[in-house]
Order: sequence, then C-alpha cells, then structure tokens
Amino acid sequence: MYHISPSLLCADQMELRQTVVEVEKLGVDWLHIDVMDGNFVPNFAFGTDCIRAIRKEAKSPLYAHMMCTRPMEFIKPFAELGVDYYCFHYEATVNPFRVCQEIEKNGMKAAIALNPSTPVELLEDLLPGLSCVTLMSIEPGFSGQKFLTHTYKKIRKLRKMAGDSPVRIEIDGGADIPISMKCIENGADVIVGGYFNLFDSAYSLSDKYRAYSQAL
Ligand code: DX5
Ligand code: ZN
Repeated sequence: MYHISPSLLCADQMELRQTVVEVEKLGVDWLHIDVMDGNFVPNFAFGTDCIRAIRKEAKSPLYAHMMCTRPMEFIKPFAELGVDYYCFHYEATVNPFRVCQEIEKNGMKAAIALNPSTPVELLEDLLPGLSCVTLMSIEPGFSGQKFLTHTYKKIRKLRKMAGDSPVRIEIDGGADIPISMKCIENGADVIVGGYFNLFDSAYSLSDKYRAYSQAL
C-alpha cells in the first residue's frame, strides 16, 4: 500500500482551499507543505499565516518539509499551528537527535529529509525515532526538476536498514507516474504529488490527477 502526499507548493496559490478539498478526495495520507527560508534554498514558501489558514480547512495531517537553516527555531511555533509532522533537513543541523527530541516534546512526529547527495547510512542511529524519511530526488527549492535516478538505490538501502521498523519512506521531486511506481517497487511508500504526477503546468489539478488516483 502506498500513498500520495500532494505538495501545496505546486497548486494554484489562489485556489488553495479548492485544491485541499479536491486532493483530500484522493484519501491522502498527509498534505506536504514546503517551507523555504530563502537561505537553505534559494526560494521562499509558506509562512505561518498561510499554514494557519490551511490548517483551518484541511482534515488531513500536515507534513511540514522545513527547508530552512535553523530547524530548532520553528518547532514550537509550528506545533502551535497544528502541524503534525515536522520534517527537518539533516544537512541543516549538527544536533539531529536534539531536534528530534524537541519535536516530540512539542507533540509532533519527527521526520528527516535528505538532500540528493546525503547518504542514507547517516540515519542508521536516528531511524528508530523517526516517523518518516523524505528522500529528495531533486535538489530542494523548486518544483518541476528532473528526477535523479540514483534515488532508487537510496530507497533500497534505506528500506533494508529500516528492517521491521514502521518508518515511512517518502520520495520528493520529479516523480511522474512510472517513476512513482518504480520508487514503490524499490521500497518507498509515500510519493510527493507535484508537477509531474498531480498538477499541470497551469498549477491546477489535471488529468494527471485522475490518472494517478486510478493508478493508486
Ligand atoms: C521542492 C519541494 C517539492 C516539490 C515537488 O523543493 O520539496 O515538494 O514541490 O515538486 P515536483 O514533484 O514537481 O518536483
Ligand atoms: Zn517538499
């Protein structure tokens, strides 16, 4: 069983409410909210007021993908916003255990994202405390980039490392429907829905959305 997690970054930003309603009909596991600070990545996305508005409308859990340099600083405010999963980048901290502990102390589930060049082996000791690992299959920052194929090998390695653990493996970036299927075959269980598999070039739900929901 695998799941799609729609990236609200790829939605028409003027139609966020309608998009949330529509994608929730898919039975999504969680909504993927990209948070970008203009520093960790050269782009900006989703501030706290916008997330508060999404929380009011959405029934699904919110998964905050924190592309920011100081993940510790936003734990408390994001917990207060009603975010369920706090996914920080391994590359953004020298104290990943402390960040995980703080996330749990604030009532959220801890998740870690890895950039394409960061090896999965670094997570070995952290895995038991994680609800999800997001493997970036593009350099983070922008939707619409080409899927990096070495991700398949990373998925297989991570799935093997995880053993019986219930940790989810999520793939973020550049996954069209055939690529998503291949990620699943290699051991992933959540695919971020973006430009290639859920939204069209006008950033609205499209035929891809119908095809994807049939493929599920
Ligand atoms: C980019 C984001 C992704 C992005 C995925 O840094 O983390 O969530 O929106 O979009 P696609 O699937 O279009 O690459
Ligand atoms: Zn993301």
